[in-house]
Amino acid sequence: MAGHARGPFVAGNWKMNLTLAGAVDLARKVAAAGPELRPCDLLLIPPFTSLGAVGAALAGSDVALGAQDLFWEDAGAFTGEVSGPMLRDAGCAYVLVGHSERRLHFGETDETVGRRARAALKAGLRPVVCVGEVLEEREGGRTMARIDDQIARGLGALSRDEIERLVWAYEPVWAIGTGRTASPAQAGEVHAHIRRRIEEGYGKATASCAIILYGGSVKPANSYPLFKEENIDGFLVGGASLEAEGFIGIAREALRAYREEK
Ligand code: 13P
Repeated sequence: MAGHARGPFVAGNWKMNLTLAGAVDLARKVAAAGPELRPCDLLLIPPFTSLGAVGAALAGSDVALGAQDLFWEDAGAFTGEVSGPMLRDAGCAYVLVGHSERRLHFGETDETVGRRARAALKAGLRPVVCVGEVLEEREGGRTMARIDDQIARGLGALSRDEIERLVWAYEPVWAIGTGRTASPAQAGEVHAHIRRRIEEGYGKATASCAIILYGGSVKPANSYPLFKEENIDGFLVGGASLEAEGFIGIAREALRAYREEK
């Protein structure tokens, strides 16, 4: 195994959970674990309402702040939406784009995912772009074709510099919140495919530095074998990130796998 180009990257997507007090408490616990978890990159992604308070709790720590979505216009009459410049102003360095729950419940398409990714880049945010197939597509042998479509339609217009600022997240929809994790081999196969596509489009150096996260029922107990796959660079964690021990445990297990490579 060639090993990972960099330390693990572990992000917690809190989805529509936690009010201010719980969010701040969780952020403080993760921030306190930051030094122990170096060189792991840590990212917390709370709901919009707690970005300010979580950002304050993370100030001076190793842990970065991200948002769960953005709109592609900078400002204007778009009731209910939040823009890239607003997220930068709130202290975000990252923003999720194209999460399958946005695609499923809120009408996101590959094209609107692309617009959002471009808006994030323009605002100086790093988009964490989510791709992944539904169960029918997997069972019908269409996983790679679906991933190819998501990449081509959503991100085809990006330059190499822009692609290098992305974080990729492979989240098979059938594994999200179901307790049914992709096996390391299943996930590793799709991650290798994504890296190959990046290499074809943008060259070997860009592909080898790309951060490709896996998401879908990640827990401390399954993160070690998943990170052993050379193309899995870390995790985008939902449910298990709502407890400090779960999130920190996942980062510890990824680090254990990473250190064994050295
Ligand atoms: P779960 O870890 O709860 O399966 O959620 C994964 C996810 O959607 C992270 O974005």
